[in-house]
Amino acid sequence: MTTTLSNTRRYATLRAEPLTRHIGAEISGIDITQPLDAAQVRDLQQALADHQVIFFRDQPFELDAQKAFGRHFGPLHIHPGAPSPEGHPEILRIHADANSKYIAGENWHSDVSCDAEPPLGSILHLHTVPPQGGDTLFASMYAAYDALSDRLQQYLDGLTATHDGDHVYRGRFKNYGAADTGKVYPRSSHPVVRTHPVTGRKALFVNPGFTTHIDGIPPKESAALLAFLYEHSTQPEFVVRFRWKAHSVAFWDNRCTQHLAVWDYRPAVRSGYRVTIQGDTPR
Ligand code: SIN
Repeated sequence: MTTTLSNTRRYATLRAEPLTRHIGAEISGIDITQPLDAAQVRDLQQALADHQVIFFRDQPFELDAQKAFGRHFGPLHIHPGAPSPEGHPEILRIHADANSKYIAGENWHSDVSCDAEPPLGSILHLHTVPPQGGDTLFASMYAAYDALSDRLQQYLDGLTATHDGDHVYRGRFKNYGAADTGKVYPRSSHPVVRTHPVTGRKALFVNPGFTTHIDGIPPKESAALLAFLYEHSTQPEFVVRFRWKAHSVAFWDNRCTQHLAVWDYRPAVRSGYRVTIQGDTPR
């Protein structure tokens, strides 16, 4: 069993203030709504690698600027089901108001982990926030893996789990004009423990949103093990809770975190846009 400490590295073009021992940093000293130079992009990549989720204040993105920011980190992902604003297929609208029946991300999940190549990361800008509530929680799946016993780590290493989009997305977007009769949503099998392609660290890669079962073991054993891993990985020590203000931005790494959006503000409005960066095959 090992423990991790948030990295307090200094960066040439920005400042990063770690928010917890394991995960999350607030970034200042950079305007991400404007074109960035190579040194700024390198520092942001490093800050994301160091902290897993980075937060920014006072960044009033237009959609084109948000997409341009996202493209510094890779090609943009197009959501398998959600409709997008006219002319912006790479944008996912995140919106809740008094009439909402559900919100995006109200269960712990890693974005679209049902994809064969799940997204590298996601960048969410909220332009409208409720007066209270509407926080987002992010859990470090590195810290969760590191805190397991050596014996459980060894057991999990090499197992795979199935991640299914159907139960998450089916019927969900019909109020927005996106009928999905006959549509096939992604379903993929991924390692339960993945190695981050940038940091080389191991992270648990299962989440209650998409993961349906661990492959090749009895269903009851899979359910019990997943229930333990979900509870273990979302314990408060491994979690940072972000309090939004209008024009805050959160940029998270889906390869080593999962997150949950708290819906405690109805009937208030919470609204913004997400761009999502394409990822690779988990290994
Ligand atoms: C999401 O899962 O992308 C939504 C997160 C949030 O609204 O805070």
